[in-house]
Amino acid sequence: MSTPVDLMILHARQLITCASDGPRRGEAMADVGLIEDGAVAMSDGNIVDVGPSAELQTRYSARKTIDAAGKVVTPGFVDAHTHVAYAGDRVAEFEMRIKGATYMEIMAAGGGIVSTMRAVRAASVAQLVAETRKRLDEMLMLGTTTVEVKTGYGLSVEAEMKLLRVIEQLHDSHLMTLIPTFLGAHAVPPEFRGRTDAYVELVVEEMIPAAAAWYERSSFARQRIPFFCDVFCEAGVFDVAQSRRVLEAGLAHGMIPKLHADEFENLGGVTLAVELGAASVDHLDVTLPDEVARLAASNTVGVVIPAVNFNLGSCHFADARGLIDAGAALALATDINPGSAPTPSMPMVMAIAARYQKLLPAEALNASAINAAYAIGLGDRIGSLQAGKQADMLILDASDYRHLAYEFGKNFVETVIKAGRIVKS
Ligand code: NIG
Ligand code: FE
Repeated sequence: MSTPVDLMILHARQLITCASDGPRRGEAMADVGLIEDGAVAMSDGNIVDVGPSAELQTRYSARKTIDAAGKVVTPGFVDAHTHVAYAGDRVAEFEMRIKGATYMEIMAAGGGIVSTMRAVRAASVAQLVAETRKRLDEMLMLGTTTVEVKTGYGLSVEAEMKLLRVIEQLHDSHLMTLIPTFLGAHAVPPEFRGRTDAYVELVVEEMIPAAAAWYERSSFARQRIPFFCDVFCEAGVFDVAQSRRVLEAGLAHGMIPKLHADEFENLGGVTLAVELGAASVDHLDVTLPDEVARLAASNTVGVVIPAVNFNLGSCHFADARGLIDAGAALALATDINPGSAPTPSMPMVMAIAARYQKLLPAEALNASAINAAYAIGLGDRIGSLQAGKQADMLILDASDYRHLAYEFGKNFVETVIKAGRIVKS
């Protein structure tokens, strides 16, 4: 007697499960949980079983079957750090950097994040939704099935709330799952220039309570999707004391900490993030050895973002190799945003990480799936192909998963399955 299921993928040349009951660390990062001639059975949007085709064929009868012979099946990618909800572009700054200006110089001169803030404040919810939807479509076609999305281009109570509504509308209407992060402390807006503490006061006293109230009534709370609070902890932006103030206020309102730390200068953000039990601490370009050890001994996931270094034309990258070897839980993300990382592509990030951070393709893939899911608090629901998890997976037109990182600038994704539904084929 075989059990009926909705959908079954059979005969994958390589079925990559990334299966794990926690984030993968150390040597386990080089193991992607590969099953040859593998199969996945799914029903009601969730994975029912994973294993060799010969076994699953006898156990299940599917209403629909996909033959993946010669192909690779992987979990959908999880993009754990993005600023994808914005308006406009910063192509003029791209040219300024080509001519020699640095990212932080442009920001200090009133450009950068604040220039996108102007575009976002001027845009309607409908415009922001339309512009962001296009980018989410591209990301989905490149294999991303879950995306964390930060606010942080509003920088006023009203405009930050507008971005939260944009994120919710997209989550409710797009195939992709969105995970909301409040990043009111992303930059100091012009009206608070030179008065950073006064801006922090506004974030803590007004924005965070308003954001928490929004979350309670949102579809995210109903779906038990967590709500995060993040800060750009950086020289000339928010220092460690200001970051602590914001993250502790967020915690008091049920928001889980995340932190941008060590992107350009080391201020000690990793120690703060670990102390506060942050879900992740992100960038880590100039993190010191004792902080790496502290991170490795914690449950905080280290997210590295090599697309930023690449985009800024830097030859310096976060020591992702050292983080893995020290035993830290490492994840990758695009950071898609109009300034430091205008890319929708997780495979591009894997390709850069392999070359400049010396990650094996297996390590880059685990960092983009199971570990990225833990970085956004959803490690028990997505990020791997395991019975009981949501059926988010990809069929790649490749004979070996390592080609994802090896051949760059192309799209191997042939089929995207989101919550058991074929959404690209
Ligand atoms: O992660 N560093 C701060 N935030 C983004 C950049 C956002 C922007 O430039 O618009 C980052 O790099
Ligand atoms: Fe960022």
